[in-house]
Amino acid sequence: MARDNWRLAYHLMPPDGWLNDPNGLCQVNGQYHVYFQYAPNTPGPDGKKHRTWGHYAGPDLINLEFEGVPFWPEAPDRDGCYSGSAFIHGDEIWLYYTGNIKLAGDYDYIHDGRESNTILVRTKDGKAYSEKQVLFGTKDYPEDCTRHVRDPKVWEEDGVYYMVQGARMNDDSGSVLLYESDDLFNWKLVKIIATEEPFGYMWECPDYFELDGEQVLSICPQGMDAEEFRYQNNHQAGYFFMKGDLRGTQTFSEFTEWDYGHDFYAPQSFVDEQGRRLFIGWAGLPDKPYGNPTDARGWENCLTVPRVLKVKDGVVTQTPVEELKSLRFDEQKIDPVGTLVLPDASGDAEVCFADPSAAWNISIGGGVTLAFADGVLELNMSDAVGCGRGPRKVKTDAIRDLRLMIDRSMLELYANDGSIVFASRFYPDDPEEQEERALAVRFDCPGADITAWQMKALPFNEKY
Ligand code: FRU
Repeated sequence: MARDNWRLAYHLMPPDGWLNDPNGLCQVNGQYHVYFQYAPNTPGPDGKKHRTWGHYAGPDLINLEFEGVPFWPEAPDRDGCYSGSAFIHGDEIWLYYTGNIKLAGDYDYIHDGRESNTILVRTKDGKAYSEKQVLFGTKDYPEDCTRHVRDPKVWEEDGVYYMVQGARMNDDSGSVLLYESDDLFNWKLVKIIATEEPFGYMWECPDYFELDGEQVLSICPQGMDAEEFRYQNNHQAGYFFMKGDLRGTQTFSEFTEWDYGHDFYAPQSFVDEQGRRLFIGWAGLPDKPYGNPTDARGWENCLTVPRVLKVKDGVVTQTPVEELKSLRFDEQKIDPVGTLVLPDASGDAEVCFADPSAAWNISIGGGVTLAFADGVLELNMSDAVGCGRGPRKVKTDAIRDLRLMIDRSMLELYANDGSIVFASRFYPDDPEEQEERALAVRFDCPGADITAWQMKALPFNEKY
């Protein structure tokens, strides 16, 4: 069989079939666990219909192995084991997720015809799982919610357990339901977190955490109108800084998008045993308007690399975890107006600009350009390489530094210490049986200091 040059080197992807949201991220007894929404053997639109979880685990974030499917749909989640999170209790992983049920009939599936159960499954080792326990369900959600309630994220604060869930209200506004519990089984609604004016019709995959003294509410709002410099994807992912008591009245900051690329959604954070707040997103989008031609090759989508979150100068910055540097080899200095060749189409480059306000341009593999001029950072793709991915633009006065993580059909671009990030898929020409997958990166960045490396593949990915 011909080599699939779109399979990735250092991004987690499904061995086969469809992948979406990262789920149940945690580290316990040294082991990292990365679960994800998975439809084995079913890429493409049908992937939606057979959603369960997949599981990677390993002693660090590089040596992860695919552990298979932890559980399959049954009665309380018969139409999908939907997204959820992990809570470490003692030395057990408690997984809270949504069991999706779609009734057969003539329903709008917004106000009727859909049910969702909040389900708990426990495991000690990520190999054997308890029975599923339905904790609460459709009849228990607040009356002014539609049937769209899902994606529980659980944490503990000052001796109280909290859970957030994403919801669509009857007036078509998005919100987050905040629950509390003192035993992790019985949950009581504390309040509904919502902006004063509606901000999209549905908030998916909420996450709530404290970071460097700030309270961060991460949500995925659906239904925002696209603007030239904001909300350029069909669904968004971003955060508010919240002020005030979690249990009382709170105010929201402006909303900041996590990532300005074409393919980023449903991120989830967790704190690892080193105390880092790590963050992984789905490098994809629900109902995306552009193509992912890998579905014809039996797989679709990937996760972003794990990113470390910090608050700096009023924004949350994202930096790829240090561990990824262990995959680097063949360090090279590249001329500021020069070319980097990546023989295996997998690399990492750091650019430090001499004049942060000067214009520059970088072309990646011919079909992708990243350019900065007149206070706008812009990513563009040709139709052939982007499969319909249009321009993505961010306003910024200056670009001081840039990190380009290039991985065969996935790009992650980090500017200004990770305060501006783009995750986008791209599909360089790969006719069948092409033995060559070298990719050239052309820099036109006068005065810049550029260091680049090739990147080895994750051991797991080498197997495919
Ligand atoms: C986000 C999402 C979640 C849901 C899951 C189903 O991408 O729609 O809200 O739980 O995907 O796969």
